Amino acid sequence: MDIIDKHYGGVVVLQLNRPKNLNALNTNIMHDIVSIMSKYDKEPEVGCFVITGNEKAFAAGADIKEMVDKSYLEMLDEDFFAGWEQFVNIKTPKIAAVSGYALGGGCELAMMCDMVFAAENAKFGQPEIKLGVIPGIGGSQRLTKLIGRVKAMDMILTGKFIDAKEAKQAGLVSRIFPVETLLEETIKVAKIISNYSKPTTQKAKEVVNRAEEIGLKEGVLFERSMFHSLFATQDQKEGMKAFIEKRDPDFKGF
Ligand code: CAA
Repeated sequence: MDIIDKHYGGVVVLQLNRPKNLNALNTNIMHDIVSIMSKYDKEPEVGCFVITGNEKAFAAGADIKEMVDKSYLEMLDEDFFAGWEQFVNIKTPKIAAVSGYALGGGCELAMMCDMVFAAENAKFGQPEIKLGVIPGIGGSQRLTKLIGRVKAMDMILTGKFIDAKEAKQAGLVSRIFPVETLLEETIKVAKIISNYSKPTTQKAKEVVNRAEEIGLKEGVLFERSMFHSLFATQDQKEGMKAFIEKRDPDFKGF
């Protein structure tokens, strides 16, 4: 099994499990991860995903052994990596819990999540330049948007790695934990998210993500229409009533 999925209440943890290849991301893993997540995405009780690897590697990139002999036409015909768009389109919030190497496609996978938490030993990089290629799963775009052109250019042109601290300072990572507690702490945060109303967390991530794509004026309009749409849910009534009645809300996910 290249992906192990485990439930912790409303949280589904997906662990990449190709340790001998440092969790290199091949086509099978891409299809597996997307099909598992698409299934859970529709389940009202699943409120957050955690994507993780092992202590040495989150993922050391796309699988070089799978790509090495491919021709230009094969890459084109297969639209290689296009399947990862489905990962981006998963509506349920997803947190990357990164320990060890997050390189190339691994760094890109983390950036396709909604939040990135890192262990103190994490190392991020886009070293494709050393292989005679460039990032291919959105790395040049997402990294630049997240950490800025100057730092992204440095990482992409030199292939240098940055550690967890630098990644946090740069804006790639939001929280750092010791290696031993990374997963446990990430699950705690994922549980907080999964206890909120699912339609609301989905809208929340949608409006934040949209900010990266459109201008302020359009973004504010989009946010307002999403805000209004939540008044079609029972969870909005429940959340606001619970506040007034000084009790915890009991969100139903609709
Ligand atoms: N693809 C396939 N196999 C990989 C791999 C990858 N991305 N990364 C590591 N492996 C394999 C190694 O080939 C090795 O396998 P064998 O035992 O069969 O030789 C095994 O994992 C262990 O790796 P190392 O012996 O190299 O381990 P190390 O501790 O000495 O080095 C490392 C660790 C610095 C991460 C090194 O493995 C490395 O540089 N890996 C490649 C990183 C990289 O270039 N990533 C980008 C890939 S291209 C890409 O991702 C394109 C894109 O944008 C999507």
